[in-house]
Amino acid sequence: GRPGVGRAHAKAILLGEHAVVYGAPALVMPMPELTVTVHATRFACPGDGADKISFAIAGQHPAPVTPLVTDGLRYLVEKFRERAAVTGRMCADVLIDSGIPQGRGLGSSAACARAAVLALADAFGRPLDAGAVYDLVQASETVAHGRASGIDALATGATAPLLFRGGSARELPITMSGPRPADGVFVVADSGAGGSTKEAVELLRHRFEQDEQIKEAFVRRVSDLTVAALRDLEAGRLTGFGAHMTENHRLLRDLGISTAPIDAMVEAALAAGGLGAKITGGGLGGCMIALAGDPGRAEAVAHGIEAAGAVRTWVVPVGRVRQS
Ligand code: PMV
Repeated sequence: GRPGVGRAHAKAILLGEHAVVYGAPALVMPMPELTVTVHATRFACPGDGADKISFAIAGQHPAPVTPLVTDGLRYLVEKFRERAAVTGRMCADVLIDSGIPQGRGLGSSAACARAAVLALADAFGRPLDAGAVYDLVQASETVAHGRASGIDALATGATAPLLFRGGSARELPITMSGPRPADGVFVVADSGAGGSTKEAVELLRHRFEQDEQIKEAFVRRVSDLTVAALRDLEAGRLTGFGAHMTENHRLLRDLGISTAPIDAMVEAALAAGGLGAKITGGGLGGCMIALAGDPGRAEAVAHGIEAAGAVRTWVVPVGRVRQS
């Protein structure tokens, strides 16, 4: 029969990464232009009685399936069987076609897991509700990342920016595709260096175990920045929003989550007229994000960041939903 299909997309955290693991709110936007598609093709199970699920990666960023990703996906298949109450054996070739660069803080592992769950559900005729999909993606993220807040598991399936807090999210009245012209433009830039979210989360866990006060101050300050930024976003105060992003970057940098190339890209974005800039996602490499303000600025900001060493930039326009 036809293969089961699942899709998901990248995400970029606007404010609050890492603090979100300790209960702070965070703002995140989907990046619908960076997608992953998974095809799950069932085949007749061989005679030895076991399940057979093989994983392979194709696509714009060919890469071997790393043991970490495979562990997460294998666990996901086990959990899928339980949750979807599959009673027969499961044999399928799962092909992951990802346009999301891995290890860049863009949520590639959660997006792959989400697309894989949806493809399995489709292939085995077991549709799942949103809560079940979230639980399965989150289970696989916990294996891949250690501690995971759940922000990636939700944002990789969202159509609007989200305010995430304590495992649940509220959609913000912000659109990603229209109306035009956009109110603001985010520029996301890849430093070209991989970062390990798992390592970054562990680094902070050790640091916080040694000094509880550093943890409390960080979580409180990031929470305040995120709440203030949310008010700015809702009121269309982009200058304020950008300033809060930059302040959030400084807090992350001071804890050792940034890198020299990312710091240089942040400075370049600000020098080119960006309203704010910061590392995004797990850090220790990966991506940064800048707010360009009016759309006319986006190109200059992107060029500035590229001149500082970015290997790739993406321009993401956002607009407030207008009440008619
Ligand atoms: O690096 P990414 O895309 O997986 O972003 C992770 C965000 C963190 O706050 C660092 C971890 C988490 O689970 O929330």
